[in-house]
Amino acid sequence: MSHNTFGHLFRVTTFGESHGVAIGCVVDGCPPRILLTAADIQRELDRRRPGQSKFVTQRREPDEVKIISGVFTDPKNGEQVTTGTPIGLLIENVDARSKDYDAISELYRPGHADYTYDVKYGIRDPRGSGRASARETAMRVAAGAVARKVVPGMIVRGALVQMGEIDIDRSRWDWDEVARNPFFCPDAEAAKKMETYLDGIRKNGSSVGAVIEVVAENVPPGLGAPIYGKLDAEIAAALMSINAVKGVEIGTGFASARLSGEANADEMRPDNAGRPEFSSNNAGGILGGISTGAPVVARFAVKPTSSILNPRQTVNRQGAAAEVSTKGRHDPCVGIRAVPVGEAMLACVLADHYLRHRGQVGETTK
Ligand SMILES: Cc1cc2nc3c(=O)[nH]c(=O)nc-3n(C[C@H](O)[C@H](O)[C@H](O)COP(=O)(O)O)c2cc1C
Repeated sequence: MSHNTFGHLFRVTTFGESHGVAIGCVVDGCPPRILLTAADIQRELDRRRPGQSKFVTQRREPDEVKIISGVFTDPKNGEQVTTGTPIGLLIENVDARSKDYDAISELYRPGHADYTYDVKYGIRDPRGSGRASARETAMRVAAGAVARKVVPGMIVRGALVQMGEIDIDRSRWDWDEVARNPFFCPDAEAAKKMETYLDGIRKNGSSVGAVIEVVAENVPPGLGAPIYGKLDAEIAAALMSINAVKGVEIGTGFASARLSGEANADEMRPDNAGRPEFSSNNAGGILGGISTGAPVVARFAVKPTSSILNPRQTVNRQGAAAEVSTKGRHDPCVGIRAVPVGEAMLACVLADHYLRHRGQVGETTK
């Protein structure tokens, strides 16, 4: 299983299993002399951490990150900065309950990766799903915290815009609201509805999907590497690599198929400084695989959690028909904790392209 690395100049390698000793990552290619503390990374990890409300898995992991390499504290000013060498990050697993998985160790959960790991590798780690567990995504969030610092002034934010049948009202979008409810939802009224809705789903032993929107602002124009390293293509691949993601769209995405050419094409005009400005952003900040300078906007759909209490038909490892019901601690809507993960993947792709752009054309952008 050799594909545990992504990125070209900003390269992230993750390792570790859900119920192993620890999970970790190596961020290779981060430029030197960037201020970086464990607190910068912890802040992002705390947003993804399990056990923070009744609407997510009750596994209690403090997710305390240690920076084990790649930084140096300047004795003159006490500031900790990156050195340009590989940044090693480690989080110990402290609340794994492998016994919870005994009952399903010989069964394939429909919708999960049990069958495909077994059929491919001839072995699978049933304890918390091993490497197929979204526990691994904690390291993406950690790497994303580093990536955010690579592109000067860049802001990457995300929000849950749909949960099952509940859509947000975009006219009520408030970024401050995202931190005020347990769903990362930007619409306070929709968040209230989600509480009752998800509680019912959880109590019924079921689960539900979600749609998440991620937005990067202050992305310089010019990032992206046509033709086979287009920015939109690499963002889509990065978001699609998140567990349970089943669809990705950029800007207006699938809805653009309904628009006319006039409605879809973002008109341009000079701004006060004589620079081009777009009057709309159906393109999601990307044209020809290259960033325009407008916010980069992507959305991804997350399927409902497959580990559910309600019994489903399946087969066991011996090929006999069986029934499976998953007890233990699971997220009733994995889309909630996928919000910081999506932000992190977007930040990593943009940091990578920022460095690749600099490598090809230097600092200058027209
Ligand atoms: C943040 C997050 C948390 C998740 N938690 C669970 C979970 O508790 N139970 C579960 O069955 N799947 C969970 N998943 C999804 C599985 O990891 C995923 O469905 C599985 O690896 C199969 O991969 P696929 O759905 O991408 O095909 C989670 C996904 C994310 C992004």
